[in-house]
Amino acid sequence: MASYNSINNQNQPGNASPYGSGDPYYNASSGYITPQNPPKSSKRWIWIGIPVAIAVIVAAVVGGVVGSRHHSSSSSSASSSGGSAKGSEASASAAASVKNAIGVFPTSTNSDYLMPIYPSTASFTRSTSLAWPKDSFQPKNPSPTTPRPDRPRLIAPAYMWQALPQLISQDPYLKSWNTSIFNNATAYSSLPPVVYHMDGASGILDNAREIKMRLKAFSYVYRMTNDTKWADRAWQEIQNAAGNGTSPFGPDDDKWNSMHFLDTGEFTAAYGIAYDWLHDVLTDDQKSQMRTTMIKYGLSLGMNAYNGNMSIGWWQTATEGNWNCVCNGGLTLGALAILGDDNTGIAEQILSHSIPDTLENCVQAVSDDGSWAETANYWYFGTTGHAEMAASLITATGSDYGLLTNNTNFYKTGLFHMYIQGATSLFNYGDHGPNKYSTTANSITYYANYYDQPVYALFQRDQHDAAEPWSMFYYNPTVAGAFWDGLPLDHFFDNSLDQWASMRSSWTDTNALYVAMKAGQLLGHQNHNDLDSGDWVFDAMGTRWAGELGSGDYLSEGYFDGAEQDSPRWLYYRKRSEGQNLILVNQQNQNVAGAKPTISHGTTGEAQGSSTVYTVPDSSVAYFVADLTSAYFNVTSYKRGIRTINGRKQVLIQDDINAQGTIMWRMHTNATVTVDSSGTSATLQIGDLKTTLQILTPPNGAQISTGPAQRFPNDPALPAGQSDQANPGVTVVMINLPAGTYNLQVLFNPQWSGMAAGDFKTPAFVALDDWSTTSHQ
Ligand SMILES: *[C@@H]1O[C@H](CO)[C@@H](O)[C@H](O)[C@H]1NC(C)=O
Ligand SMILES: *[C@@H]1O[C@H](CO)[C@@H](O)[C@H](O)[C@H]1NC(C)=O
Ligand SMILES: *[C@@H]1O[C@H](CO)[C@@H](O)[C@H](O)[C@H]1NC(C)=O
Ligand SMILES: *[C@@H]1O[C@H](CO)[C@@H](O)[C@H](O)[C@H]1NC(C)=O
Ligand SMILES: *[C@@H]1O[C@H](CO)[C@@H](O)[C@H](O)[C@H]1NC(C)=O
Ligand SMILES: *[C@@H]1O[C@H](CO)[C@@H](O)[C@H](O)[C@H]1NC(C)=O
Ligand SMILES: *[C@@H]1O[C@H](CO)[C@@H](O)[C@H](O)[C@H]1NC(C)=O
Ligand SMILES: *[C@@H]1O[C@H](CO)[C@@H](O)[C@H](O)[C@H]1NC(C)=O
Repeated sequence: MASYNSINNQNQPGNASPYGSGDPYYNASSGYITPQNPPKSSKRWIWIGIPVAIAVIVAAVVGGVVGSRHHSSSSSSASSSGGSAKGSEASASAAASVKNAIGVFPTSTNSDYLMPIYPSTASFTRSTSLAWPKDSFQPKNPSPTTPRPDRPRLIAPAYMWQALPQLISQDPYLKSWNTSIFNNATAYSSLPPVVYHMDGASGILDNAREIKMRLKAFSYVYRMTNDTKWADRAWQEIQNAAGNGTSPFGPDDDKWNSMHFLDTGEFTAAYGIAYDWLHDVLTDDQKSQMRTTMIKYGLSLGMNAYNGNMSIGWWQTATEGNWNCVCNGGLTLGALAILGDDNTGIAEQILSHSIPDTLENCVQAVSDDGSWAETANYWYFGTTGHAEMAASLITATGSDYGLLTNNTNFYKTGLFHMYIQGATSLFNYGDHGPNKYSTTANSITYYANYYDQPVYALFQRDQHDAAEPWSMFYYNPTVAGAFWDGLPLDHFFDNSLDQWASMRSSWTDTNALYVAMKAGQLLGHQNHNDLDSGDWVFDAMGTRWAGELGSGDYLSEGYFDGAEQDSPRWLYYRKRSEGQNLILVNQQNQNVAGAKPTISHGTTGEAQGSSTVYTVPDSSVAYFVADLTSAYFNVTSYKRGIRTINGRKQVLIQDDINAQGTIMWRMHTNATVTVDSSGTSATLQIGDLKTTLQILTPPNGAQISTGPAQRFPNDPALPAGQSDQANPGVTVVMINLPAGTYNLQVLFNPQWSGMAAGDFKTPAFVALDDWSTTSHQ
């Protein structure tokens, strides 16, 4: 059964938005520590209530070392990391003054996820910090079908709108987000209503999300101004999505595309929000028309699905992933919006299904370590749907009915997100998903507040995708401090589904070293994973050196047809083991049924302090080792390990392997690769930045070679008429070895500015079984 999530890789971050370069959420795809015990306030990150005046002093660094970013097209970052030694204090202070002025850090222009650039002397103050008033609607016996008496009821009740202007006037983040939303609403209002566009066999999810994004912005600005021109513009978009506008909008019997129910879910959510937020300005007739349309194209199809039409409702069972959250969430927002105005009873029926189904599926997509069962990018879709649904149920009816508490580890998912964000980009394994219109990481701003994990909000408020209507109500402006203050640099996630490691040299430097590696099972990821146990990425000096290729074309034949060893998905290069940064044996795909790898890991455990300027001690190290034997055919034993060397300035990756088939070590890079005459070392160059790669004590005959990121000539054929996507600019670095037993060590030395050849270390060989935090000193 297909579980595709709309259109293809043309919508990966970094590529052009089909809606133009002004699209604010495009590129928006965009890691905190695990408290050992459930939600508890930490000393480092505190909520400060009225009327406490706070002064956030992020250590002014006197004569501190500041890093620099020697990247041709980049803006300068401020803090130090790894081996960067000298920097641009002028742009650091420029960054500080921008921060002082608007409360939001500038963002890096050349990282995929527009990473915030933190000033090196981030000494800034906020005079007052108001708290939200308490909601007076606190029913003793909440029921999903007994809504609060006043409107709006979804996410932002009237008392919040009343308090908001004053909060905005005192909080730099709210102020800046409010301005962005107004600007964006103005920009959207000058565009024609969203044009219906079916992406081949897939869906109209981008249409639905674009309309939802616009309706949120128009409705927000209407409520903030009382200017009915915004409600009128929203109505134009509402009519358009009902096919009552000036251009056609889909087939009459199924305008919201129930065969790809994500679309139906998002349209229903969009209607629900607009219906509720504009409730006082819409006429009874308009509201009646909206209900008719929402029931016909959304809620009634939702009931068909809940009543057993699995061709549209397959997402109801065994679906621990974004589909379940988005479909149930959208239907819930629509139902809550019309509850009481509608006399057909359908809203009540929807709620009786959507809540229990979400508890059994969506809510279980978070593993006990906080990882999301799908990919780092699909986390956005799933948690956006989950947070919207939970927040709406609480404001509308007084309870989340367990959505936030049933999975007692759900609160850790903010950790997953923070640690999977590297210095330049996500550890973006597997599929990336479609555009993120209306989808952001702002769910963690909500979780921060609900679970009392302020660090999540402190992290997210500086991100480029923070500005949107939900943030205005999810954000608790009494949060104070810095997310990096006391936050461990490393975290090891150890649920058998997704064992993975996140290791870095700084939280506040886009030039930092970041190394992440995954092991984990190959099944159980909702058809969004790759055959990639042992895959890894590596950032240094503001650039990704070992990276991912992302999604294939979602419309490719068989792309979502299961995950068995012979499923067509595993014919496509970007999904095959050869399309990952792995070792291949006999040039074969990994074994999808591989049992859970065993892992070991270690860290010297540094946490950054309050300053954005941070240099790890020379003894600082982190490492991760996975036994990947069961993920391979024709292998007697195989362990892969990765570690930082020399105070996190160098990286060593080591494979201790005994294989009966040929061995090929592969890594994908955007760099230009020059192999030295010895054949055992190479230089990777991106812009004017260089990283050297060296095989330590090379096995007999080991030679580095390079090749294109494309399928092997002898791979099994693609389905007829299908092709792989090109991977322009990507080179594969390879090391080929005959069958045998090896300890293959590859050392990466990023050429940090200010670091001399003699400053690099060459570690002695240590078998992976003997790795420890001190084994390489
Ligand atoms: C929100 O932003 C708009 C546009 O900049 C501005 O006119 C309005 O005053 C802001 N609202 C508040 C409460 O400051
Ligand atoms: C949305 O707002 C952000 C911040 O003001 C801006 O960068 C972006 O261009 C805006 N998008 C549109 C479509 O106006
Ligand atoms: C909009 O109307 C509401 C309700 O009458 C009122 O509380 C609010 O102050 C008005 N806002 C503006 C900006 O006029
Ligand atoms: C759209 O037109 C149909 C047919 O007249 C009507 O039933 C429906 O209520 C209208 N919906 C909206 C949102 O105007
Ligand atoms: C399931 O829903 C689809 C889309 O609405 C519809 O075409 C199909 O006939 C339905 N199947 C059954 C068995 O009701
Ligand atoms: C989670 O919900 C299920 C029913 O959906 C219930 O049986 C279980 O006790 C709940 N667990 C917790 C921890 O709330
Ligand atoms: C190449 O650069 C792009 C844009 O920064 C990045 O998304 C991608 O991960 C890089 N690819 C590799 C293989 O490193
Ligand atoms: C490699 O493994 C495959 C699958 O188990 C098996 O069919 C094949 O005979 C093995 N080849 C060698 C050389 O052991």
